[in-house]
Amino acid sequence: MKTVHDFARYKAENRRISIVTAYDAWSARLVARSRVDAILVGDSVAMVVHGHETTVPATVALMALHIRAVARACAGKFLIADLPFLSYRRGIPAAIDAVSTLVRSGAQAVKLEGVDGHEDVIRHIVGSGVPVMGHIGLTPQSVHQLGGFHVQGRSEPDAVALLRQARDLEQLGCFSIVLECVPAPLAARIRAELSVPTIGIGAGPETDGQVLVLHDLLGLDQTHTPRFVRRYIDGEGILTAALDQYDADVKEARFPDLQESYR
Ligand code: KIV
Repeated sequence: MKTVHDFARYKAENRRISIVTAYDAWSARLVARSRVDAILVGDSVAMVVHGHETTVPATVALMALHIRAVARACAGKFLIADLPFLSYRRGIPAAIDAVSTLVRSGAQAVKLEGVDGHEDVIRHIVGSGVPVMGHIGLTPQSVHQLGGFHVQGRSEPDAVALLRQARDLEQLGCFSIVLECVPAPLAARIRAELSVPTIGIGAGPETDGQVLVLHDLLGLDQTHTPRFVRRYIDGEGILTAALDQYDADVKEARFPDLQESYR
C-alpha cells in the first residue's frame, strides 16, 4: 500500500487491509519487511512505550518524535499518525498546527477520535489536503468520560449513534474509519452502509481491515491482553529465555568464545 487511494481500491476489490502500530525505527523496519499494508503511529505509544495508564499523556511533540523515527525506517509503507488528546479540540488554527507538525514529521495521514463538536476541524484538515482517518466506538482519549476501556454500542440507541457518527465521518471526507471495541454485528452494519473502508480492532471479522498493536500481536507485553488480540508468538517468553541464556553464558564463561573475540 503506497497511497490513500489504495484504501478505496482495496475496499472496491473486497481485499482486506492490515495495519499495525510502530513507534520506533526498529519496529518500523520489521513491519516494512512484512506484507502488512500500513503503519499507525498510535497514541497508544504513551501506554506501550512510556508506561502510562492511558493515552491521555501523549502530546504533539511526543507523537512527532516517534513519527520521525518510524518514517526513517518504514520504507514506503503508508504511514498514519494519531492526533493526540485535545490537539484537535482547540479550534482550527491549533489543529492545523498539530497536523502540520505530524505531517512534516513524516505522516501521510492523521487519525482522530470522535466527530461530534469537531466536524469543522475534520472538514478543514481534509480540505487542506491531508487525509483523515476517523475513529469511533471505544475512543481511548475519552476514557475518563467512558468510565474505562469498555465495549461501545451495545444498546440500540448507542448503535444508532455510532452508525450516524460513521456516516458523518464519511460525509466529512474521511478516507477510512477505525471501529474500536464494538459488537461484531454493529461493525458489519456500519461496513455495509459506508463506501469508505472500516478498520476494526475488537470489532469482529466483518470490517474491511484490522489494526493491532504490534506488541500485542507479537506477545511482547502480556501484562494485559484484551479478548480481541490474537498473539502470534510468545515474544515475551522467547525474549526472556534469550536474556536468561545470555546471563547463563556470561556467568558460566561460555560467552564470548574465540570466534567472538579479536586476536
Ligand atoms: O493508538 C492506537 O494504537 C490506536 C489503535 C489501537 C487503533 O488508536
